Amino acid sequence: MGVIERYRDRLPVGPSTPSLTLGEGGTPLLRSERLSARLGVELFFKFEGANPTGSFKDRGMAVAVAKAIEDGAQGIVCASTGNTAASAAAYAARAGVPAVVLHPAGAIAAAKQAQARAVGARVLEVRGSFDEALRSCQQLAGRSSYALVNSLNPNRIEGQKTAAFEVIEQLGRVPDVLALPYGGGGNTCAYAQGFAEEDVQPRLIAAQAAERAVTLASAIRISEPAHLGEVEELIAAGRVEVVTVPDDAITDAWLEIASREGIFCEPSSAVGLAALAQVELEPASTVVCVLTGHGLKDTAAVDVLTPATTVVDASVEAILAEVGR
Ligand code: F0G
Repeated sequence: MGVIERYRDRLPVGPSTPSLTLGEGGTPLLRSERLSARLGVELFFKFEGANPTGSFKDRGMAVAVAKAIEDGAQGIVCASTGNTAASAAAYAARAGVPAVVLHPAGAIAAAKQAQARAVGARVLEVRGSFDEALRSCQQLAGRSSYALVNSLNPNRIEGQKTAAFEVIEQLGRVPDVLALPYGGGGNTCAYAQGFAEEDVQPRLIAAQAAERAVTLASAIRISEPAHLGEVEELIAAGRVEVVTVPDDAITDAWLEIASREGIFCEPSSAVGLAALAQVELEPASTVVCVLTGHGLKDTAAVDVLTPATTVVDASVEAILAEVGR
């Protein structure tokens, strides 16, 4: 069951909203086996990479595309560093409407673009940054019958807030802390909204890359967060803390999540853990770290961050010489 069916009474959907789903939501909440001890807390990973298109975007996209169709849109459009596009393209294909997706040219992970192409989206590579592509998309949506499905569309936030509900359901309690990557800020606002609707207020840590414009974590290569104003309001209200982490801390955290927990996420997903290492945490508190995208999304990062493979003869001697007895 997808988020529209599962959370029908908590979403702006009605009888005329299509029950669009690819089976999003219901992602694993995994207890950390090794990193908990180091942080001195009870750490859990919410693995949003297990969503149908491999990122957290699917929750909000199911609702945004369904509502766009209900409202009579002829198609959908978005700007993306890759994951939003892959998700939008898949849900549009599922719903039988065309998708136009805009990327900063040459600046997104190949697998994400492959996902959008595979399901038949029109993929346009913009000569410019993500921020410029987003501005053009907003104008395009205003001048055409295509609905904008970036997180500026409130239905994206509505669907995305279900992740906050799910964390509480799966834990059986409210976490003390929840850390997540902060790119444009849509996900941060969605968790804040979800927790507010549950009348709870865990410490929400929004982790951003220090080198926003050039970070290795290409998913969050965003200079001008679209939700900056709302995030600033949340900070002023004491509901969100923004923590800034340098790229080497992001890649260290990514390696640890992969090699010490066996969870393969994309580099931008590791920003939350990198931030947790920088802040004071109450001993033995319950901490959830949201891993937003699957590692298969960005295998080029693996080439950069892990040792090369070794070519050997197919003999036992040659193999033992490499790996030891
Ligand atoms: N993690 C991943 C894997 C992402 O793809 C994104 C954003 C974020 C974190 C940041 O989330 O923007 O809500 O603060 N990706 C967008 C995209 C920009 O186009 O796929 P945010």
